[in-house]
Amino acid sequence: MRYIEAHPRRVRGEAIHMTAAEKRASEISSIGAADMEPDIQVRIRTPANRDGNYEMISMEAKRQAIEEAYLTPEVKHFIKTPEVIEIETRMKLWLQAGYPVHLIGPTGCGKTSLAAHVAHEMGRPVVWINGDEAVTTNDLIGGYSQMQSESVRDNYIHNVFKSKDVTKMEWVDNPLTLACKYGYTLIYNEFSRTKPAANNILLSVFEEGILELPTKFGEDRYVKVHPDFNAIFTSNSVEYAGIHRPQDALLDRMVGIYTDYYGCETEARIVEEHSGISQEKAERIVSVVRAIREKLPDAQKPGTRACIMIATGMRALNGHGNINFEQLCTDVIANKTSSPADMVAKKKLIQDCMTQLAQLA
Ligand SMILES: Nc1ncnc2c1ncn2[C@@H]1O[C@H](COP(=O)(O)OP(=O)(O)OP(=O)(O)O)[C@@H](O)[C@H]1O
Ligand SMILES: [Mg+2]
Repeated sequence: MRYIEAHPRRVRGEAIHMTAAEKRASEISSIGAADMEPDIQVRIRTPANRDGNYEMISMEAKRQAIEEAYLTPEVKHFIKTPEVIEIETRMKLWLQAGYPVHLIGPTGCGKTSLAAHVAHEMGRPVVWINGDEAVTTNDLIGGYSQMQSESVRDNYIHNVFKSKDVTKMEWVDNPLTLACKYGYTLIYNEFSRTKPAANNILLSVFEEGILELPTKFGEDRYVKVHPDFNAIFTSNSVEYAGIHRPQDALLDRMVGIYTDYYGCETEARIVEEHSGISQEKAERIVSVVRAIREKLPDAQKPGTRACIMIATGMRALNGHGNINFEQLCTDVIANKTSSPADMVAKKKLIQDCMTQLAQLA
């Protein structure tokens, strides 16, 4: 029996009153359409299009625009001395050989800056995640985090009310999935702070080159890792004993590069670059901080960041005669002080270091 259309009706563009065969055909064609990423209309501002008018661009072009705008980091004030170049070269060699690189080092020695710089030099967009106790596998891979709901209310015949609510879950990729799919460079900062179970997902990425998305089904469950994918991890050597020890299986699949505090010359160049003070002053600050560093326990050692802070403070407070160099050093070093007795000991340490350096000069 053939169905004869009595009311050639369309509700929101969709034909109603279809035979089973027509319905199946329309479903098949809508699946095909969903697979193809359609062109979308977005506003893009280019030199040729100053008004930012709407233009039709493909999804691929949209992704490229996002990569250029948001995923290409600019590393400002990065200093390259022979020792920085040496580590940078080693990192690049290992990444080009296809291994993830793990930078391990004490607080404030320059791990994150180096990771960002090398990632930038790899020439691919960069995605970023910070390790933390609360990070879960979903924070790495993504999840069904957006809901699209659609309601159809049909009251075509006055005494028949038909209503249909459809809620669709939409999958959103997080940094690891983006990096594996599109060949980005992933920076996983302080990754050892994350619970090891959440990082298990990385094992198959490095071993089999497959990212398995546990909450997806069928062929969508597996993402083949893109050949341009790179990963740089950082972790703090001082925290290693305290927080989650990253599982050995994961560490076995990475190359470990230990980065200690840079030498005097590099640290002074970094301080000069960040604060704009003279070379002579930068060298003085660095030598005082390095002398203090030698005397304090690992967890309290001031890093390069402390040198930059003292130098920036010195510049900003120039002319305020009542704050001298010793006080500046004390204020910056005191950020990890636990008691008045500890403070007194630190003040004494700073004075001793300064006297010792003055005698040497
Ligand atoms: N090569 C470099 N060129 C310029 N600045 C640098 C360089 N290396 C480190 N720095 C500066 O030194 C400071 C500390 O560096 P960074 O934050 O990278 O250290 P970190 O080891 O990641 O520290 P944390 O352990 O606290 O995370 C930052 O202000 C950074 O800008
Ligand atoms: Mg860091």
